[in-house]
Amino acid sequence: AVVAGVCGQPIRHSMSPVIHNAWIAAAGLNAAYVPFAPGEDNFEAFVEGLRGGAIRGLNVTIPFKEQALACADRCSDLAKLAGAANLLVFEADGTITADNTDGPGLLDAIAVQAPGFDLTVSSVVVLGAGGAARGAAAALALAGAPRVSIVNRTFARAEAIARSIGGVVEAASDDELDVLLAQAGLVINATSLGLGGGPGPAARLELTPETAVVVDMVYKPLRTEFLRRAEAAGRRTVDGLEMLLRQAVPSFEAFFGSAPPAGVDVRALALAQL
Ligand code: ATR
Repeated sequence: AVVAGVCGQPIRHSMSPVIHNAWIAAAGLNAAYVPFAPGEDNFEAFVEGLRGGAIRGLNVTIPFKEQALACADRCSDLAKLAGAANLLVFEADGTITADNTDGPGLLDAIAVQAPGFDLTVSSVVVLGAGGAARGAAAALALAGAPRVSIVNRTFARAEAIARSIGGVVEAASDDELDVLLAQAGLVINATSLGLGGGPGPAARLELTPETAVVVDMVYKPLRTEFLRRAEAAGRRTVDGLEMLLRQAVPSFEAFFGSAPPAGVDVRALALAQL
């Protein structure tokens, strides 16, 4: 059997096993997808032990995505720019290849839930400057966004991302936010605000152009306060659950060599886990 898995700490609430095993079953593959939770200090040793071995690949989640990139022998341009990998493939020759499918997951989720949206003519405002924000900024820059402005409570973290990605990515202060929102085609919550049901970022979404698209990476709850405010202002929205589902697609292909089978309602399966 081909074995793949997901590695994080904690891993109990990960939806990836549900998603991948549903696809495995529907495709009739001789395969399995299992959760792993190495200790916070043991990730590198855990991955090293898998070289050339029994496992085809791993998805990697919090808090190991940066370490995953560091463990790899080669990586995609996007993983390098994002400074993080959520996908490791263990090659037969003992080497490890790293990729980042979170960025493509974001772009694909936008394509599904906001069809027709044109990133190449849309200024982007990213709220937050953690790993999720950095991955999003990298993917948006590579995909051709004309301007990606990062606004964060701790300005120095936004500056660090702008410095490391460069190009169209810039750090912006809270004072500039209203002006940036008025020009934004895309606004993304990449902070942890709203997780568990509280208020999201206080950004005045009603200032955005009517055609703007609003994304929340938080998916618990599915309809966050941030997305509800965007909807109330009449904006199209993209939810974090769709991003999660979309990042799983290229991972499945990398592990099992074929696209996920059609006809599996993974969104409903994942919703039942929320
Ligand atoms: P991840 O790697 O998942 O993106 P993270 O590195 O913990 O997570 O980043 C969380 C983000 O949410 C950060 O941008 C954080 O702001 P700081 O960099 O200033 O810490 C933001 N965040 C969390 N709680 C916040 C709050 N109460 N107000 C504003 N921003 C908050």
